[in-house]
Amino acid sequence: MEGVTDIMFRQVIAHAGRPDLFFTEFTNVSSYASDKGRANALERLEIAPSDKPIIAQIWGKNPEHFAETCQALESLGFSGVDLNFGCPDKHVNKAGGGAAMIRTPDLAIECFRNAAKSTNLPVSVKTRLGWSQPEEFREWLPVLLNEHPAALTVHLRTKKEMSKVPAHFELIPEIIKLRDEISPETKLIINGDIKDRAHALELHTKYPEIDGFMIGRGVFANPYCFTDHTPTRDELMELLKMHLSLYEKYIADHYASYETLKHFFKIYINNFPGAKELRTKLMETHSVAKARDIIAKASF
Ligand SMILES: Cc1cc2nc3c(=O)[nH]c(=O)nc-3n(C[C@H](O)[C@H](O)[C@H](O)COP(=O)(O)O)c2cc1C
Repeated sequence: MEGVTDIMFRQVIAHAGRPDLFFTEFTNVSSYASDKGRANALERLEIAPSDKPIIAQIWGKNPEHFAETCQALESLGFSGVDLNFGCPDKHVNKAGGGAAMIRTPDLAIECFRNAAKSTNLPVSVKTRLGWSQPEEFREWLPVLLNEHPAALTVHLRTKKEMSKVPAHFELIPEIIKLRDEISPETKLIINGDIKDRAHALELHTKYPEIDGFMIGRGVFANPYCFTDHTPTRDELMELLKMHLSLYEKYIADHYASYETLKHFFKIYINNFPGAKELRTKLMETHSVAKARDIIAKASF
């Protein structure tokens, strides 16, 4: 997730309990392919040992740039490449990327083929049901499945639905059928409103044909969501301290403002008596040193 699953937060999650596979934030292929943007792209693609196995997610609309970026990813330590054909962000869509690919299927195929022929890594796709109507999946998903991607992650909403309506779990059986008919070797990953591991296992019992379950915003509610563990307040505070230390470690090489770091505080300081007061104090800080001072003095 953009602005979330960076090299720092992934290490925090790995400490709490990692998923089977991590995905990076998405990196723009034209940024990687340009002299000006490459350093920034490589910064986003830096990984830590505890990240592995990890998939690099990329987006863009230029087939040659997909190829150029994919050529680099194996040597950077990734286990696979995921093409983002689902992002609903208006800037991304205006640039022809993310969910805009749903409306330019020929270009989507060209980008996929260019990516696949440029790397030995498995190439997967993450997308949505369609642009405006959920029923579009009946035409759109076969376009992708005909390319036999290593995996297909389906966020069970349309671009227009953003994340504002419940995920369309009712369409899962039909999506499984399409996968089985067109490309049985493609791993099917379902995404949208899956809270945690227990929820994923419940879905797995109902639909054993699904190969994976992707959790996004579940980490905001519980950074231990990939485990069966319910964290204590002290464990969450430990994660916060770890995040602060990682921020200090990476800030020299990675652009991450202290203000951005503050977005994460709510993940750790939540749902315990005194959490709101502590969070309010921490939101007023401007440095890691001050945050540490407040945490040390906190009386719960
Ligand atoms: C802050 C934020 C950033 C996101 N960035 C990405 C991204 O870079 N790539 C991607 O495939 N999806 C991204 N997503 C979408 C999620 O991966 C996921 O598809 C969506 O939130 C629905 O799943 P969930 O209900 O488990 O969160 C992002 C979502 C959020 C909230």
